[in-house]
Amino acid sequence: MRTLIVGIGALGGLIAARMQASGCSVWLATRNAESALALRRSGLRVTGVGGDVTVKVPDIAALDNYLAGCSFDLIVLATKAQDAIDTAPRLAGLLGAGGVLLPIQNGGVSQLLADRFGVERVLGGLSNLGATMPAPGVYEQRNAGHLLIGELGGRKSARAERVSRWLGRGVEVRVTPNLPGAIWSKLLLNCSVTTLGAIAGRTMRRYINLPEGRELFDRTYAETLLVARATGARPEPMIVDPVPPEWNGQITRGAEHDAWIGQILKAYGDLKPSMLQDFERGRRTEIDFINGYVVNLGRQLKIPTPLNEAIVETVQAITGRHLASGPVLLTRILAGAR
Ligand SMILES: NC(=O)c1ccc[n+]([C@@H]2O[C@H](COP(=O)([O-])OP(=O)(O)OC[C@H]3O[C@@H](n4cnc5c(N)ncnc54)[C@H](OP(=O)(O)O)[C@@H]3O)[C@@H](O)[C@H]2O)c1
Repeated sequence: MRTLIVGIGALGGLIAARMQASGCSVWLATRNAESALALRRSGLRVTGVGGDVTVKVPDIAALDNYLAGCSFDLIVLATKAQDAIDTAPRLAGLLGAGGVLLPIQNGGVSQLLADRFGVERVLGGLSNLGATMPAPGVYEQRNAGHLLIGELGGRKSARAERVSRWLGRGVEVRVTPNLPGAIWSKLLLNCSVTTLGAIAGRTMRRYINLPEGRELFDRTYAETLLVARATGARPEPMIVDPVPPEWNGQITRGAEHDAWIGQILKAYGDLKPSMLQDFERGRRTEIDFINGYVVNLGRQLKIPTPLNEAIVETVQAITGRHLASGPVLLTRILAGAR
């Protein structure tokens, strides 16, 4: 399967290195020629979970170099969300007959690209693999996670199995017939655990004990789940059941709900939110494709999303340096959205 990996950052670099190390040649695309040259010289090195590997990457170039006349069966799109949306129109022309684009960003990217290019050209993906890139060409695999792929139309397909077998030679890949549901399950957590943690400037374990933290978590989760359900998606059980106990269109507080929160805390409560790292490094966040995606869908489906709207505005104010992250912003969001 002639494969191009676009975006050789934390996740793309990890996948590329593990594919090369298992003897599967892949082509790599960077943003510019300087990055490609540096990685061709240095090679890629992975440490951490799954074992250490060091590989050469002879077939690496700036994306523009592939645009004249190249053709691929599979393009793994491993950039951040906004870059994925910006780059995808150029990538569509690189797909051969029957070729498929596999975006692996968080949030609504796969669905947005499928809406634009058709479900026959886009296979949905998300990553439960965790990776960091301490320096270009140097990657750390942080967990024994997997890529989850599947049809956005929500069915089984031979091509998803083929892609899974191929990429599975390098990293663990699983196929689900309910990829839209899996995307929503992750989005529900990203919208609440991750974004609220970033806004509060702390892990979920440290903000959920504040009364305003708990209220905002519950209400944001409920608002997001209402939008998910209205799209027709069936959020897929992952580590934690995505539907809270005794769900009836709103959260029912009580012992069962506390236990459910406890499960989320056990799985995700101590992780530093990736968006908080974006704030600290002055990087663009993926908020438009996380809570912002929910707001847009809510508008289309006529479901009010005041909390997600206030959350998006708050994140924009933090990245614009008009606000600083901290727990006081949780109270501010609740007050503004009442
Ligand atoms: N890392 C994880 O553990 C993890 C886990 C789950 C989901 N995800 C999701 O996976 C996606 C990628 O995350 P990441 O952590 O790997 O990000 P990252 O480290 O920032 O890597 C993105 C890479 O894409 C490159 N890029 C941007 N535009 C490009 C273009 N037009 N052509 C070629 N390359 C381009 C960037 O190059 P420049 O540096 O030159 O911009 C960068 O090397 C995100 O949506 C993230 O939410 C990541």
